[in-house]
Amino acid sequence: MYKTEKPFLNVLAGKKPDHMPIWLMRQAGRYLPEYRDLRSKAKNFLNLCLTPEWACEITLQPIKRFEFDAAILFADILLVPMALGLDLSFQEGEGPVLEQVSDEIKLSKLKFDNEKVLPVYDAISRIKLKLPPQTAFIGFCGAPWTVACYMIEGRGKTGFPKAKAWVKEQSKLLQKLIETLIDASEIYLGQQIDAGVEVIQIFDSWSGLLVGEDFQRWVIEPTRELVRRMKTKYPHIPIIGFPREAGRHYKDYLTQTGVDAMSLDPSVDVQRAKVELQTLKPLQGNLDPELLVKGGHDMFIAAEKIMTTLGPNHIFNLGHGVVPQTPPENVADLVKFVHAFQS
Ligand code: CP3
Repeated sequence: MYKTEKPFLNVLAGKKPDHMPIWLMRQAGRYLPEYRDLRSKAKNFLNLCLTPEWACEITLQPIKRFEFDAAILFADILLVPMALGLDLSFQEGEGPVLEQVSDEIKLSKLKFDNEKVLPVYDAISRIKLKLPPQTAFIGFCGAPWTVACYMIEGRGKTGFPKAKAWVKEQSKLLQKLIETLIDASEIYLGQQIDAGVEVIQIFDSWSGLLVGEDFQRWVIEPTRELVRRMKTKYPHIPIIGFPREAGRHYKDYLTQTGVDAMSLDPSVDVQRAKVELQTLKPLQGNLDPELLVKGGHDMFIAAEKIMTTLGPNHIFNLGHGVVPQTPPENVADLVKFVHAFQS
């Protein structure tokens, strides 16, 4: 007999779960041999994302292996710029390469073509049918600022100097780009929800590039507007925000954007988070992914500290994605350890 209440949704609703829920960012990916098998059959990463049978199978791979409390849709935040008309490819060792939005002319040509991401919604419907009843289903998008960084820069491993220059010198253009992304993300997330996801996570991986007024204008304001629009149409769908490396801005983000919960990167001290943030809303995170690579004693000690400080109304996760070198056995150990935690 399984329980029909989902611990992950309970924490988001402010209810005590019967065990601490856990899922991991990038829980489907290169650390799993079954992922690498499928990946070598597909010509490239984009094919995997845009072939519903494959995206469904990959989303379910970690669910079959481990007792995760949530599945996250297998896709990528850069599918939105692709659907806006930009060429996208993923190159081995290089990461994503995206056609750049260099000027106003390029910017005015962007138009969200929902047809291009129909396979994503198709994948969601298939996954929905196959998920165990206690497993929640997460959809996602990149936050406008983070997606804008890739669109302005074209690639990811640069520190985003051009995007930072737009903040200082091209704020009108940046505003237009951000508005385009809010509009596109609103459609994309709405369609994900209509197809069956139950929770949304907004990834702002590069929010840490901005501070002060810039953080307010380009991270908080666009996220707040996107959340507002989602809440108008889908008030019952919880939204988790992930402002990575937001420094002194976590509290502003949590109180001002309207998100229901916040995911913490490994730089956040959990004791501080308990006092300053968890009193406001539920939190998620924040084990260092390197400790999951290491496993054993060090991993358990760090996980225990997170759980005793923040539990039981906490969503256990990493502070960033699972890295390819991670031994799957360590993931199995961690899931068991978290589920065995008694507050
Ligand atoms: O978390 C999940 O398991 C769901 C799927 C997912 C992927 N990317 C799959 C993926 C999610 C939620 C993302 C989000 C994403 N994509 C972010 C935000 C989170 C973060 O990591 O900061 C960003 C910045 C991207 C853009 C992106 N996609 C980069 C920079 C890369 C290259 C880095 C890498 O790990 O290779 C990708 C590729 C990518 N996205 C892979 C996966 C599983 C690896 C593809 C492969 O080679 O098989």
